[in-house]
Amino acid sequence: MPALLANRSGGGVMDRIKLTIDNKEVETDRGKTILEAARENGIRIPTLCYYKKLLPIGSCRICIVEVEGYANPIASCTTPALEGMKVITQSDRLFMMRQNYLKFLLIHHPLDCPICDAGGECDLQNIVFEHKIEAVDLAAVGPKKRLASYATPLIKYFENRCVLCLRCIHACREVSGRGVLDLDQKGIEAHMTPVNTADCISCGECLSVCPVGALTESVSRIKSRVWQVQRTQTTCPHCGFGCRFSLDVQGGRYATDLITNVDDKPNSGSLCVMGRFGYDFVNHDARIKRPLARTSEGTGEVSPSDAVAIAEKALRSLDTEGKGVGFLISARASNEEIYLIKELAGKFKNAALATPAFYHTGKVLDLYKLMGLSYAYEYDRLLSCDVILVAGANLLSNNHVLGNKVREAVKLNGAKVVLLDPSSTPLSRIAQSHLRAIPGQDARLLNAISARITDENACSPEAKDVEGFVHFSRILESFNQTPNAQEAGVSLEELERACKLIKDAKHLGVIFGSGITQSEESLAALLNLSLLKNAHKDGVVAPIARQSNAVGAAAILEKIIAPEELLGREDLAGLFIFQDDPFHYLNRGIVERALAGKEFLLVGDALPTAVMPGADLVIPTGTFAEKQGTSIAGDGYVRERRAAMNGSPMGFDFLRELLVRFGGPKYESVDQVKQKIQESGVLSAGGDGEGCLTPLHQGAAGKSFYMASLEPTLSFKRPYTLILRDLFLNHCFLDKDAYSRGIATVYTGTNYPITTDRLFISAADAEKIGVREGDGVTITSEEGSVKKAVSIKQGLRSGVLEYLLFQDRRDVLKLSSSSQKLIDVSVEKG
Ligand code: SF4
Ligand code: SF4
Ligand code: SF4
Ligand code: FES
Repeated sequence: MPALLANRSGGGVMDRIKLTIDNKEVETDRGKTILEAARENGIRIPTLCYYKKLLPIGSCRICIVEVEGYANPIASCTTPALEGMKVITQSDRLFMMRQNYLKFLLIHHPLDCPICDAGGECDLQNIVFEHKIEAVDLAAVGPKKRLASYATPLIKYFENRCVLCLRCIHACREVSGRGVLDLDQKGIEAHMTPVNTADCISCGECLSVCPVGALTESVSRIKSRVWQVQRTQTTCPHCGFGCRFSLDVQGGRYATDLITNVDDKPNSGSLCVMGRFGYDFVNHDARIKRPLARTSEGTGEVSPSDAVAIAEKALRSLDTEGKGVGFLISARASNEEIYLIKELAGKFKNAALATPAFYHTGKVLDLYKLMGLSYAYEYDRLLSCDVILVAGANLLSNNHVLGNKVREAVKLNGAKVVLLDPSSTPLSRIAQSHLRAIPGQDARLLNAISARITDENACSPEAKDVEGFVHFSRILESFNQTPNAQEAGVSLEELERACKLIKDAKHLGVIFGSGITQSEESLAALLNLSLLKNAHKDGVVAPIARQSNAVGAAAILEKIIAPEELLGREDLAGLFIFQDDPFHYLNRGIVERALAGKEFLLVGDALPTAVMPGADLVIPTGTFAEKQGTSIAGDGYVRERRAAMNGSPMGFDFLRELLVRFGGPKYESVDQVKQKIQESGVLSAGGDGEGCLTPLHQGAAGKSFYMASLEPTLSFKRPYTLILRDLFLNHCFLDKDAYSRGIATVYTGTNYPITTDRLFISAADAEKIGVREGDGVTITSEEGSVKKAVSIKQGLRSGVLEYLLFQDRRDVLKLSSSSQKLIDVSVEKG
């Protein structure tokens, strides 16, 4: 590994060296650059192309320093610091040379700062100011404002403002793993250009690293200058990774921009398309602003206090009559809202709580608890893993930023990647092993790998002390690789390769998604394997939390049932749906029947949803931009959501007032509820000072192996298995034009072109059925059939069909009345 790379890994023991910078003796790790050594010791060297997260680029030469023994100044960002080196960072010569480099840049850069989005927070502006450049000898060439085409409609590219630092090109390759951008031409003609636009996933990484206003976002309808806005750091509302960013709000009312900072954990400045561009829904005209109540005369606005009175009266009368009330709670609501609903439900004689977090995170938390696995871990622990197993998860559609962490571990630490998924994923490009198992057969392969590890005595010493080890090892003795590889549909060589990598791993990282949690035996097999390798302590065992507070919802509510069970219960005459829309993920018939049978339907949300038309009372609950509260991210740590916009959404106030009316305590503030949650034992103080999940605290030792059925129990009779993949877009933005303009249609990439509604099929199956790209097929299950046009996907195993549940594509849910996302189907042309 090159020294400049090695120093970034954070792993390994570095020896220290001494050098002199600006006549001051300093120490640093061998392998660090002069720039890094200077910064560590509080000495500032100006830079332009250097970016902390990227490998050194060395394109601008602004960071030049004088080094004793060298005739000419050298770039400090690309030169390793050496023992005994003598460095000068500031001199008249350096100042003039930097001035000249900047003047050269300005010849090509239009001075349109007054109309540039980056004005006021532009690195070039700052550095030109610092170098006292008052005029350039030559004017900028070319048209004043040349807007060149770019890879994605979400980003504008002002080519003339580009200073050719190359950060965007490197970020796209190194961080996002794409390679959409490149340098074209040479010398004066050189320019950055998109070369492979079909591969762009609109992550905006390039935009976030651009030091000038060459790349700017084109989402917000309202633009503002940095001095006109209030900037509030908060947490992304869209998925469970818990990315941090700051929201710019103008006049307390309009979200105008979103800023990331490379130093903010856990995302280090990266976001996915939804996080980066999916914030402008908070400005949408369709926002629900006042409560709406249905009376015999129709539906009309009511005051917040009347809304509370209406809800109290209806719910109390149901309770008095001995009728039950169901609570269906979003896995995106804040911890504090969820806690209030739980307390409220506790006031009813017959109440049931459900959340979609049940499907994935709820099952995971239950099993982690049972097996005594630690839950709270830091994503960055992946960076010290030498092997990373990604099972049943597509990190592009499920969690792009977690995918970035895997790529970073590969880049910095040479980590090897093993994939377990029937389809190609964005990580296929860098994987050393890809087990394309028949859907539902993962447990066979995972147990075969575990059998090999115990057989060769390659498990960690700690695993032998875990309860059930001897019993588990005995059961595994019968797990022969050959028949299991055959049954799972992978070759023995493929299984052998994966076995060897995992067996030899010193620090195993395990990431898994709903492809695994679909079946209990797959989940058990994966967690048992993790225990054998002590991955929960030496590495990471990380489930993907899809919704932004799935962990909080599953942990706080504790006794939850599946949403379809709640909706199917006939004893529940009242239903309170809080920030959720079951039409999005359940068979339409189930939801319609449930809603039609309710005597009182109360819905709370920020934007209109499909369950609202039948509601007796609708309350506006606000978005992440107005809410104060917390959520628990997929790593088990608490993240703050801070109110960036004015206006008090009534969600929290409505809940606490209703709770008081039913005899509950009166909480004065969100913080008081947060305190109560901590006292209840769900949360405890965590590593980052913000708290983390208590029952499964970091460092918990494995308690026991879990003996589920070792054989897969899902059985399929029809020739194809349809995998429904969820894109975790926020439910209430799917039916309306309320989502960030363009997001829904630009979330593209060679692996997931979702601009058109297509069923993915392998080339072999397309040939067998006799269809070509775009042809129609009929998919039939035990419960129904739908027609779809096909798209041929490379890397998808034969016998498997893949479909993205997204926007108005929920007609496929009629193929199954359960929440199972693996459906037994047959397919025919036409
Ligand atoms: S948006 Fe992401 S994938 Fe597209 S060009 Fe920029 S960095 Fe590359
Ligand atoms: S577009 Fe921005 S990040 Fe890319 S090379 Fe130009 S100035 Fe650098
Ligand atoms: S990965 Fe998740 S938390 Fe991060 S920006 Fe995307 S949706 Fe938001
Ligand atoms: S910052 Fe070192 S060459 Fe650009």
